[in-house]
Amino acid sequence: MKPVKVGVLGLGTVGGGTVNVLKRNATEIARRAGREITITRASVKDLNKQRICETQGIILTTDPMDIINDPEIDIVVELIGGDGLIKDLLLKAIDNGKHVVTANKSLIALHGNEIFAKACEKGVIVAFEAAVAGGIPIIKAIREGLSGNQIEWLAGIINGTGNFILTEMRDKGREFSDVLAEAQALGYAEADPTFDVEGIDAAHKLTILASIAFGIPLQYDKVYIEGIAGITRLDVEYANKLGYRIKHLGIARKMPNGIELRVHPTLIPKRRLIANVNGVMNAIVIKGDAVGPSLYYGAGAGAEPTASAVVADLIDVARALTSDPENRVPHLAFQADSLVDIPVLPADQFKTAYYLRLNAEDKPGTLAGVTRILADHHISIEGIIQREPLDDAPAIPIIMLTEVTTEHEMNAAIEKIEALKTVNGKVNRIRLETLR
Ligand code: NDP
Ligand code: HSE
Repeated sequence: MKPVKVGVLGLGTVGGGTVNVLKRNATEIARRAGREITITRASVKDLNKQRICETQGIILTTDPMDIINDPEIDIVVELIGGDGLIKDLLLKAIDNGKHVVTANKSLIALHGNEIFAKACEKGVIVAFEAAVAGGIPIIKAIREGLSGNQIEWLAGIINGTGNFILTEMRDKGREFSDVLAEAQALGYAEADPTFDVEGIDAAHKLTILASIAFGIPLQYDKVYIEGIAGITRLDVEYANKLGYRIKHLGIARKMPNGIELRVHPTLIPKRRLIANVNGVMNAIVIKGDAVGPSLYYGAGAGAEPTASAVVADLIDVARALTSDPENRVPHLAFQADSLVDIPVLPADQFKTAYYLRLNAEDKPGTLAGVTRILADHHISIEGIIQREPLDDAPAIPIIMLTEVTTEHEMNAAIEKIEALKTVNGKVNRIRLETLR
């Protein structure tokens, strides 16, 4: 059979890794796909830049349209990143009958509904395994491996850069900016690293995971997002003493009245496997009604781990080239006309437990005032610690763990606690999940 011809847009970290993996494993890949997969063209911004891959045999251009309009190209692999212009490029590629493979989570999260509709119309595949959790085949696991289940919830560490930063800060006491610079040098971070730090990248990925888990349209704008910048060393220490780790989690949970979609720092019991996922590694726990909980672990970013997912998509597309479009695995796991509009819950309806840290004057009645407010809002306290100040500060830190309550009740209680004369400053609140 004649080789499948591939044009790659972007030869940076992931593009370079993809070229290397395809070349190194060409024989195995051809045995799996049933034919050779060959990169014939690639587009870059700077033709003179040094690459992590060899470009011998690949025609380079600075204009992605050269590839998109090349009738010889079967599959366009988009590894540039960004959404506006790229969306137009990919819609054009689909219009030209090209299959598409992409690692671009912001593109899929923001424009996936439109892109998939166009792909269905044209009978082409858009594959995006590398868009979530780097090398972990999590899209395939949910879309195919778990397709017999009703997914109840999933929770994951889905940003490698953020987890790398938190781990290095906790284990080695390194400074935030220093670790972020290293993550950038290692090729883990997004072109705009605030996407990693502020939780935007994780929210893109959660949008995709929720859609394929629950059969809902992609709805990035409804995800509640908090990043890692608010995590203090003090909270990491207290959490540790209480038997918890703080991880940045993406959580999607089906509730009776809708779906929670949230990305934020979270206390997790130390004994959970996911609490021990460190560095650039990602992990996702999925609870299905039949399988129970299952855990997926692996490198969340980096050239070759991500290339592993891109190449797997290329092999899938190569295998499906001759199949009837009606009989392919649907882009979002459920048939396009079977997606349902389950409401995504507003943040104040979230149900979770909390870690609270506040600074209070060391006077009789202070603690009673705080606990009375929580009781008035039907919030039960699971544990409470009043510690000696860690430094010479006049106030005493009080740390509380609560039972599950609604965000609405917690917001109201925190507002009243902060208004107490005996409480100094803001209450630091971190959500807590037992992931049972
Ligand atoms: P890089 O910045 O390393 O690479 C981007 C590539 O795109 C470069 O080769 C660049 O060219 C090229 N490029 C930029 N603008 C243009 C343009 N206008 N025309 C043609 N080529 C252009 O990014 P990554 O490889 O890290 O990321 C690529 C995608 O993969 C992103 O969507 C990212 O979110 C996603 N991703 C990244 C992961 C990672 O670990 N890095 C993991 C999972 C997904 P030049 O080299 O000449 O500058
Ligand atoms: N910047 C992303 C991360 C790349 O660190 O997880 C992988 O999607």
